[in-house]
Amino acid sequence: MPKKRILVTGGAGFIGSNFCNTHGDAYDVVALDNLFLGDSSHLRPAVTFVQGDATDRTTLESLGTFDTIVHFAGTSSAPMFTEDIVQGYRNSILSYIEVLEFAKRTGVKKVLFASTSSLYGNTPPPLTEAQQPLPTNHYSVTKIAMEHIGECYQRMHPSMDIIGFRFMSVYGPHEEHKGIYANLISQFVWGMMRGEKPVVYGDGMQTRDFTNVMDVVQGITRAMEHPSPLGYQIFNIGTGTSTNLLEIVRAINAALGTSIQPNHIENPVKETYIRSQLADISKIRNMLGFKPSVSLEAGIRVLVEQSQNPVKLSHDRRAQANAIPGY
Ligand SMILES: NC(=O)c1ccc[n+]([C@@H]2O[C@H](COP(=O)([O-])OP(=O)(O)OC[C@H]3O[C@@H](n4cnc5c(N)ncnc54)[C@H](O)[C@@H]3O)[C@@H](O)[C@H]2O)c1
Repeated sequence: MPKKRILVTGGAGFIGSNFCNTHGDAYDVVALDNLFLGDSSHLRPAVTFVQGDATDRTTLESLGTFDTIVHFAGTSSAPMFTEDIVQGYRNSILSYIEVLEFAKRTGVKKVLFASTSSLYGNTPPPLTEAQQPLPTNHYSVTKIAMEHIGECYQRMHPSMDIIGFRFMSVYGPHEEHKGIYANLISQFVWGMMRGEKPVVYGDGMQTRDFTNVMDVVQGITRAMEHPSPLGYQIFNIGTGTSTNLLEIVRAINAALGTSIQPNHIENPVKETYIRSQLADISKIRNMLGFKPSVSLEAGIRVLVEQSQNPVKLSHDRRAQANAIPGY
């Protein structure tokens, strides 16, 4: 039997490359990426890499037909919208609609897409999918729009499953290309490996539901491989536990065998800063059997080991960025 085909847009990015590499043997995986940020050197040879833009219909048509599309492409964090807001909206919304139209035209049965937990803003945790989103940035607004667009598509085309995932704070290998847009854990690890003090906004008691990228892959995979139709769904993916930044610094020190103290600075992000994040993961646990499997300590150890032997990137676009990290 031929292998099932999966198209992964943004497949050379952080989460996309981890997803593609996990499934490169069992499935025929095509990673489409315009290399705006991502880097094809993250990908194993088992994955077919195509450099191209998900907003471009001709490119999508040239890729053939697929059983499933996993859509990660887009302008992938809030501070990136401060550089060019129009391009941020255009890229994120247009790529998503082109992908949905491509899926509709070619009879794709399942489209899975990346939403975000940042649409919860400062809603009191634990964060449940039923809560009213309170976006504090334009990045989150694109994801709310994508959720509505997906719901409308699914209602109009009921044979297609459309499933969005609100990832919490994702960390893990293959994030070097994101530079200052990378997760705080990655940035702390890279800096502390150079002997630098991690910059902590305020007292360091703010919390995040830090989720290892392999658990994100697990959650999406469970939806992808679910045997019966799911219709339109939104799922949180997190661990259901939260950790403050001082604990993160301690855990990285333990993995590195160092005792570097944080450098506390006044928070430059001000009123839109998220103080606490904690996912309610009962929906994905009950419907798909999701169970977080990577402890923070183990995940940080793997990240440290990988950062000691980083992949050689083919470009370093983010080195020019001068936005404030939003973490
Ligand atoms: N990393 C997180 O903590 C997190 C949390 C919530 C949601 N998300 C979402 O998950 C998805 C993946 O995020 P990531 O952290 O891997 O970011 P990333 O920037 O590493 O990945 C996005 C990839 O998409 C590519 N891309 C962008 N526009 C494209 C286009 N028009 N056509 C083809 N490729 C394009 C980029 O080059 C990049 O490789 C994004 O949609 C992001 O918004 C990420």
